[in-house]
Amino acid sequence: MCGIYGCIGPNASTMVLQGLRKLEYRGYDSAGLAAIFPKHQGPVKMEKTVGYVSDLVSKANGRFDGAHISIGHTRWATHGQVNTNNAHPHSSNDGNITIVHNGIIENALELSNKIIKLGYDIKSETDTEVISHLIDIELKNQSKPKNYLGAFSNVTSQLIGSWAIAAIISDLEGILVSKNGAPMAIGKGVNNISVSSDVQPFYGACSEVAYMNDGDNFLLTKDGIISQDDSNIPNFSILEGIYDEQNPGLFEHMMLKEIHDQPISLSNALHGRISSDGLNAKLSGFSLSPSEMKNLDKINLVSCGTAYYASLIIVEYIRKYSKVPVEAFRASEFPSENTCSKNTLTIGITQSGETKDTLDALMEAKKCGSHVSSICNVIGSTIARFTNNGAYLYAGSEFAVASTKAYTNMIAIGLLFALTISDISENKKRKIVKSIRKLPNLISSQLIIHDESIQHASKLIRDSKKVIFIGRGDLTSKLVQEGALKMMEVSYIPCLAYPGGELKHGPIALIEDGTPVIAIAPSDSKLHLMESSIRECKSRGAKIILITDHEGPITKHADVTITTMKIHSDLTPFINIIPLQLLAYKAGIENGINVDRPRNLAKSVTVV
Ligand code: F6R
Repeated sequence: MCGIYGCIGPNASTMVLQGLRKLEYRGYDSAGLAAIFPKHQGPVKMEKTVGYVSDLVSKANGRFDGAHISIGHTRWATHGQVNTNNAHPHSSNDGNITIVHNGIIENALELSNKIIKLGYDIKSETDTEVISHLIDIELKNQSKPKNYLGAFSNVTSQLIGSWAIAAIISDLEGILVSKNGAPMAIGKGVNNISVSSDVQPFYGACSEVAYMNDGDNFLLTKDGIISQDDSNIPNFSILEGIYDEQNPGLFEHMMLKEIHDQPISLSNALHGRISSDGLNAKLSGFSLSPSEMKNLDKINLVSCGTAYYASLIIVEYIRKYSKVPVEAFRASEFPSENTCSKNTLTIGITQSGETKDTLDALMEAKKCGSHVSSICNVIGSTIARFTNNGAYLYAGSEFAVASTKAYTNMIAIGLLFALTISDISENKKRKIVKSIRKLPNLISSQLIIHDESIQHASKLIRDSKKVIFIGRGDLTSKLVQEGALKMMEVSYIPCLAYPGGELKHGPIALIEDGTPVIAIAPSDSKLHLMESSIRECKSRGAKIILITDHEGPITKHADVTITTMKIHSDLTPFINIIPLQLLAYKAGIENGINVDRPRNLAKSVTVV
């Protein structure tokens, strides 16, 4: 987490502020900026604030215009409270050295104790500040001319943990950068050289990109990259891809726009992956061929959060359509040694492609001999580059912190993957592929049903102490987990998701008068069992919000019925996720929450 942007060029601070705006998804509790001006004398100029980059822009108030070297940071707090003092950049005691950091310095306490004994003042509660003092110590131990990069490398060699660091020093014409376990890319434009946590801010500013590797320590100058040993300087290549501007258009929030993007983003995921006659589906891009994959001992899916809940659905698709054993793991709990061997494939599923837990799980899998692939949204992201094979989601940029369209594309790509390695009859395959093609249109219809049921349901939810989600069957019992996560993230209401049949084994104790129960009941073989679960809740005072395509007696038990489009029973998650996302969004709005930037969260989670 945390976003870093640094720039050498005319009006470097303006570029940094623009860059930080595009990195804000990585953390948005505070932001800061530091700069050096031509013929600079005295301490590095610095400003920081609690809040968003827009607050920083107001606070900076044009005072950084004309800087030619600048670094900036958006923070997601790991060490120390959210306050201006803990916001980055952090400085040496004389203010001449200023640094920004993303990651965690595990031995910060030990290093602080050492430097306090040398008479240094530690002003913040962060694990970062110590780095600026260590650089100061190294430089003070050198005679002139100073070897800045040497001093910086000596400091990073004392650190344990993960980091991307950018540092500027009053009398240094450049930016010192280091990477170990946190992403960092260098961009080159017509009149600037920049460094960033990801390539997004480079669009419009740089035309070439070079990715730093773990262990790299460089000095960036206006003329290029300098390393102590020239051999490890990365090559620049053309910056591929495009930047979507974060613009909700006529929608009130990015989250609502992205929910409504789904017919298009899903079409993009399917495009070129369904044959022209519309009867066959195939996912390419994996380094193993379909027949090699069919002969694997096991497929492991590793992912976090929404991507993990998508993986649970993908597992069901792979089980339905192929014979390859498959299991989904939360990446942070991946038991690589027990589950990986030569004839296994471990697939990381991730929107950002930067999630550290997922990256670590894939690295562990590789160490244990497993093949690794990824299903990922962000082109050129760390995980996409690490696995170097797999499939992109093509969901387009997802800006709202709560993932919506990426979830739908994940389950779509997972479904296509399952069909690619399937053993089902041609006839059965044709039938499902035919139904998949209808999905974008059905989702469009689902999105524009104007029956006010979502509005009524969100009013029932608004003031409740908890919401319980229930569903039955291999797909729906997994889908409810994503519904509950979405609701918690953007409404801050505690939610519980359970298979309907499990309620009576414990969680039913939570139901009291007025507790909203969101029951998802597609017309499938579990419908009558869902009816029993709903009755059990209703008779204990629950308010039932029923999501169903059925028009029969089950609707009698509902306080609000949200009607869904009818679809092939294997595809119901694609339709039922829509009201769940809309309900979460509306409940968040009813509760006055900034749904695009819910508290404590970040879009890309690069710490473990
Ligand atoms: C939920 C959400 C998170 C992410 C999780 C994994 O709305 O966005 O739970 O799904 O942090 O992120 P990625 O998919 O980028 O690996």
